[in-house]
Amino acid sequence: MKPRRTVLSVPGQVEKMHDKALNSGSDAIMLDLEDSVPVDMKVDARGRIIQSLLSRDWGRKTVLFRMNGLDTPFGYRDLLEVVEAAGPVIDAIVIPKINHPGDVHFVSRMLDGIELNKGWTQRIGIEASIETAVGLEAVSEIARASDRIQTLVFGVADYSASIGARLVSLSGHGEKETEIYPGHRWHFAMSRMVMAAKANGLQAIDAPYGNFKDPEGLKQAAAMACALGYDGKWAIHPDQIDIINQTFSPSPEDIERARKVLDAHHQATIQGLGAVAVEGRMVDQATVRLAGLLWEQARHLGLI
Ligand code: COA
Ligand code: MG
Repeated sequence: MKPRRTVLSVPGQVEKMHDKALNSGSDAIMLDLEDSVPVDMKVDARGRIIQSLLSRDWGRKTVLFRMNGLDTPFGYRDLLEVVEAAGPVIDAIVIPKINHPGDVHFVSRMLDGIELNKGWTQRIGIEASIETAVGLEAVSEIARASDRIQTLVFGVADYSASIGARLVSLSGHGEKETEIYPGHRWHFAMSRMVMAAKANGLQAIDAPYGNFKDPEGLKQAAAMACALGYDGKWAIHPDQIDIINQTFSPSPEDIERARKVLDAHHQATIQGLGAVAVEGRMVDQATVRLAGLLWEQARHLGLI
């Protein structure tokens, strides 16, 4: 699967930002039709997204667009019009506020029809956004709802609204969480989602951090998501991309540590041993699996 360390959200109606995004270091670009687009600009934004998808060379970027919810007047048309016009350029569609596997089935069946009608052989993927209490409760069934699903995305601001959690910062996107709750306010929700994602071979992506003038806060939020098993994080501003990419990439120290573990394991296997000591630490099969995962990730990103 293509890396999605960073997913830059780009308002559909602001065309100059499409170019800025294309030339940025973000792994994935999400052209948005949902919450960053005012209601009276939805149709205009849809046209601009189609135009951008068709007229630019998106190269190695992972290309996504976020449709409006299926409970709005816009969602079904976003799906139909954008996919029919630009399907071959699109890697995946982000479906917001999924509450039920039926939402995924609907999108997936529509895609079946459009792809058959057009004779396209490449299948478009789905990113399922988990951002309501109902959605989190059904997260395992949602994760299994279609083999088109590539990732689950945790949307913290809408999730907070859905459970009636207090707004503690200007944007509601991930700030000051550790100040009002011992530990991390979203630990359970994020872990619940990551479990469903990984149990079904999907990537887990964290919501954006709303204060784009706070690199330290962003770094901390990204590091926490990474520690919980997340593969990447959305960005809402180009200044956030480098920090997120760095956080979700194995560091040279990580790679060196993994190499030591794998070397030690190789030697241990020759000697017929299971667990061995490396620099005073126990290394067993579980450590080797972790190191192997990191090694593969580094290779995937071209770091080794
Ligand atoms: N994608 C691409 N380019 C972006 C961008 C984005 N998300 N956010 C900002 N930029 C560009 C600006 O156009 C500007 O380009 P320029 O230097 O060529 O003029 C540059 O980056 C610096 O932007 P800045 O002036 O610091 O920010 P702003 O006041 O123009 O925009 C926001 C601030 C928050 C309105 C804007 O970042 C934004 O719309 N973010 C995305 C919102 C979104 O997608 N929300 C839904 C997420 S769930
Ligand atoms: Mg949302």
